[in-house]
Amino acid sequence: MTVDTAMSDTSTIQVGDTSLELPVVVGTENEHAIDIGTLRAKTGYITLDSGYGNTGSCKSSITYIDGEKGILRYRGYPIEVLAEHSTFLEVAWLLIYGELPKADELKRFEDEIKNHAMLHQDMRHHFEGFPATAHPMAVLSSMINATSCYHPEMLEMGAIDESFPSLVAKLIAKVATIAAFSHKKSVGEPQRYPDPSLGYCDNFLHGMFSRPYGRYTAEPEVVRALDQFLMLHADHEQNCSTSTVRMVGSSQANLFASMASGVCALWGPLHGGANQRCIEMLKMIRREKLDVKKVVERVKRKEFKLMGFGHRVYKSSDPRATILKQASDDLLSKLGVDDPLLPIAQELEAVARSDDYFLERNLYPNVDFYSGITLRAIGIPVEMFTVMFAIGRMPGWIAHWKEQHENPSARISRPRQVYTGATERDYTPIGQRA
Ligand code: ACO
Repeated sequence: MTVDTAMSDTSTIQVGDTSLELPVVVGTENEHAIDIGTLRAKTGYITLDSGYGNTGSCKSSITYIDGEKGILRYRGYPIEVLAEHSTFLEVAWLLIYGELPKADELKRFEDEIKNHAMLHQDMRHHFEGFPATAHPMAVLSSMINATSCYHPEMLEMGAIDESFPSLVAKLIAKVATIAAFSHKKSVGEPQRYPDPSLGYCDNFLHGMFSRPYGRYTAEPEVVRALDQFLMLHADHEQNCSTSTVRMVGSSQANLFASMASGVCALWGPLHGGANQRCIEMLKMIRREKLDVKKVVERVKRKEFKLMGFGHRVYKSSDPRATILKQASDDLLSKLGVDDPLLPIAQELEAVARSDDYFLERNLYPNVDFYSGITLRAIGIPVEMFTVMFAIGRMPGWIAHWKEQHENPSARISRPRQVYTGATERDYTPIGQRA
């Protein structure tokens, strides 16, 4: 097979005796893709692309990443600008509806989120059914799905209609309450009801840390750090969990079922679960007084991976990691916290960044490397780290689910395979098998 994509709007693929002219799709940032939609029908061939490293699964106008240059933009706005000037809920609106909200739109959105933060009272019984040792990601995905049982309109919804904004507000609001409830369950404390007078992050922190005998009031720096953390995690185009949400949503599964699937995909240690694993790795180095250089040698011998390092798309730096590193430094100094894991992380980064193994493979700290330091300073327990990522990613998942549902040419996701199993065999009755 030969491919000729010379400067034209088609590319010619030679498969055996068949020469096939295929359209080239060009994105607004001049990314080029060959549309192979007719390949199988015309040639009988399919493409094989393990891990989808070369496959565009959709056209999307939500988030742009240039992994070589370390660029990340939500709806055209650089992440650095948003991180400095915006808020999580403003960014959520931007991602879902495509434009920055006007003042009255944002106010309505924030108010609706405050008003929907309560869970149906009956849902408290579900929390009682989980053991205290349940991982909060398991609780989160289960409870997001369970929420739809209390809002049957969510199951009915096919097309995006006028009830959609309210549905979005319910989801974003309730996810934070579910997360805080699951934490309270795990530490054996009574759950705290959300307080509609508080903003999104304040309310979450109140749910996490207020006790029957003492109300927690967050420092403004802590609230801002959490808000920024959520913003930086809000979307990242076609990553594993977002692709899962799109895959599940492509069957026209409802919004809540699709979001629950995203939570499950995010949980894995190669994806969002890396933030928990990264801190556990740093703790292990500290606890066992390991020499960082020797740890790096073991990583190079492939005994284990350096968690929080490497990325499928970023090949220079992850801009979220750069912002989070600075944010964690600022937060620690403002709070006067001395985290013993920070110097270990810094040493690990310095050693890895000067080592050929990492340089040749373009392995740099990703978003999960320093996010844990920020979360620890806020007081979030390590088991909750991936839940925090999920709360942040919710607007991105919703935006992708919406974009897919609004696309009239979207089809159910149904990849093909190259079968490598046995060819047709005769059935041997059980007593006659060798
Ligand atoms: N530590 C050590 N070696 C690594 C690491 C790492 N963290 N990441 C990749 N490599 C090595 C691989 O072993 C491979 O080496 P080889 O060429 O000798 O075989 C090479 O670098 C290329 O790596 P791939 O696994 O092909 O990269 P891929 O794009 O498939 O995986 C991933 C990306 C999953 C992020 C990977 O870098 C990884 O496992 N990192 C650690 C987990 C992590 O931090 N995940 C969070 C990612 S960000 C996010 O999802 C929010």
